[in-house]
Amino acid sequence: MLLRLVAALLLCLPAAAAFAQQPLAWKTGREAQAIERKVDALLKRMTLEEKVGQLHLSGRGDGFDAGQIRSGDMGAVMNFVVPAEVLAVQKAVRESRLKIPLIIGLDAVHGFSTYFPLPLGQAASWNPGLIEQAAYWTGREASAAGVNWTFAPMVDISRDPRWGRVLEGAGEDAYLGSVVAAARTHGYQRGGVATTPKHFVGYGAAEGGRDYNSTWIPTSQLFDLYLPPFKASFDAGAMTAMAAFNALNGVPATANKAMLTDLLRGKWGFRGFVTSDFGSITELRLHGIARDDAEAARKALLAGIDMDMMGDVYHKHLAGEVRAGRVPMKALDEAVRRVLRVKYHMGLFEKPDVDPSQAPKLMQTAEASAVALQAAREGAILLRNADGILPIREGVKSVAVIGAMAVPEEERVWTDPAGLGRRKITSLPDALRERLPAGVAIAYQPAFTRNCGTEFADKEAAIRAAAAADLVVAMLGEDCEFMGEAASRTKLDLPGVQQELLEALVATGKPVVLVLQTGRPLVLTWASEHVAAILQTFHGGTEARPAIADILTGRYNPSGRVPMSFPRSVGQIPVYYNQLPTGRPEKIRQRYESIYMDERNEPLYPFGFGLSYSRFTYANARVSASSLPLSGTVEVSVDVTNAGPLEGQEVAQLYIRQPVASLSRPLRELKGFQKVMLKAGETRTLRFRLDARQLGVHDEQGRSVVDPGEVEIYLGGSSRAEAKTQVLLTKT
Ligand code: NOJ
Repeated sequence: MLLRLVAALLLCLPAAAAFAQQPLAWKTGREAQAIERKVDALLKRMTLEEKVGQLHLSGRGDGFDAGQIRSGDMGAVMNFVVPAEVLAVQKAVRESRLKIPLIIGLDAVHGFSTYFPLPLGQAASWNPGLIEQAAYWTGREASAAGVNWTFAPMVDISRDPRWGRVLEGAGEDAYLGSVVAAARTHGYQRGGVATTPKHFVGYGAAEGGRDYNSTWIPTSQLFDLYLPPFKASFDAGAMTAMAAFNALNGVPATANKAMLTDLLRGKWGFRGFVTSDFGSITELRLHGIARDDAEAARKALLAGIDMDMMGDVYHKHLAGEVRAGRVPMKALDEAVRRVLRVKYHMGLFEKPDVDPSQAPKLMQTAEASAVALQAAREGAILLRNADGILPIREGVKSVAVIGAMAVPEEERVWTDPAGLGRRKITSLPDALRERLPAGVAIAYQPAFTRNCGTEFADKEAAIRAAAAADLVVAMLGEDCEFMGEAASRTKLDLPGVQQELLEALVATGKPVVLVLQTGRPLVLTWASEHVAAILQTFHGGTEARPAIADILTGRYNPSGRVPMSFPRSVGQIPVYYNQLPTGRPEKIRQRYESIYMDERNEPLYPFGFGLSYSRFTYANARVSASSLPLSGTVEVSVDVTNAGPLEGQEVAQLYIRQPVASLSRPLRELKGFQKVMLKAGETRTLRFRLDARQLGVHDEQGRSVVDPGEVEIYLGGSSRAEAKTQVLLTKT
């Protein structure tokens, strides 16, 4: 066995060596100093126009002019994914006077050629190692095609599932969000693409969940909720950042000097560059803080935006603003310096151009597919499993798979950007056929004309198939225009006619397993009372359906956990686990309590929740010392037992609460988690290290406050964790 493994590894070596990819990381010490000298020397040789050119980011498509690369008027490009086209723009650099390499950007959000689950679905795995690998393979494939910069990770925290972009983030929590941000940053950069934590800052708090809308965020909350994942990404080595579209407390993020310069560069010491979002500099006119594009360019640059994405505003106006003395040359030089610094630290000046003949060899490798499959399995959350209907029992002799989503649509099959042709994506009926005994009949009815579920193709045929089967698997959810950027919704039900179908399927009396593929938590209140099981997935990528089939058939024991609370109704939003207490908590549901007259307070499925085919119990929560000095750490331990019949993974979560402090503290705050595999019957002691500095909050001046006093510690498998211990925070 060992010999075979070694032989297999050796066989892999030549291919691996051919693509040896340098991880991207900030250089330090002498190397960093040498880079500063090179940047100085290069800056001295540049004309005003060439300097502005380094801040000009333009994209593939109509109007793209490679001549601007040759003339030194464009230093960055985006959306080039075909290696031969990347090579063409790189060749244009060779024809320019200074031959400054291009930074080549792309939204490689959850995959390039191999697709992984949507970022929210990756976060649902609560497995940072796996998330890092998904980002690594995304970066690796993208960089093999010549891309060297990704507009990811999106690290915006959001408590509002009406906002369509929650699918790009890690959910509602700053701690989980920070762990995921760091993992993704490491992974992408190890794979060879520089990262861009975005959108700096507060974009996820868009009022009413309406995309691009204003945000109003108190300083304390900015520091405790929205900024930590950015900080984690920068600490992990992110080399660039992207400013947000929204106005934050009345100041558009694209002109927000307090955030971009004072905090990011000043306080945090960030040395990389900041790009605007798509056209967001010219949008400063629409925000009402600039009369024209020249003023918008000036305000953005002076606030700290180094690069103009797709606005053409710096390109057209910045040189004029400098000549007129409205933008000091020093400010322009600083922006250019940051861009050149990143290019040097990325090693772009030494890097050979992309080799289109080699690129395809690194697409869709077996290793990347294996990671995609595991990420899809671990990112699926079993929300309901009445009477243990899952995994599919032996007595089930026929399964009706219903819903167009179960079979990927031809035009929705991921095209291969590197020119490898289309891949085959396994359908759910086929994946089930491969896994269930030969005697089990699998019928399939799409019911809808398309994945979107907005129009019936043949509803009656779907109902007939369901009525004739022992078990119904309905794959429904959000697709098409219902999710992502500019896809805010006020109703979080199943789009189109899907609810009508679901009710008809339930009315057949057959047990219905609802497999959901969505971009956000939907309101599942009706389903939670009527269907037998709910498996929540967030578009699982290339291997989504095999992963779903693995879970349905019991080949994989589900382990995903909710990264963002599922509301009972839209009117509860924002509903999140780490609320502050009120002076009128819910006690007996009477008037003058902080409750709704027509809805419960708690979400349908809380943060951290997720079922397994096993059952995990917690006992003996304890601390290594009863008191904890403000600058110290304490070890928290708990014994976790797999009390169920199957081996499975548990996500053990640690929450704290400080019941009395100088500021009102959340009812629960996540401060640690571990994902562990436990055999049936196994008990393991898990240890967490709690740092007193983690236990503070920020005040309205942005200062960190850690108060002495009692801290309650809860351990368990969700934000409702019950095993309890405590520690006393002391001044010394
Ligand atoms: C706009 C989005 O807000 C941003 O996240 C993305 O990177 C750019 N478009 C480029 O596609």
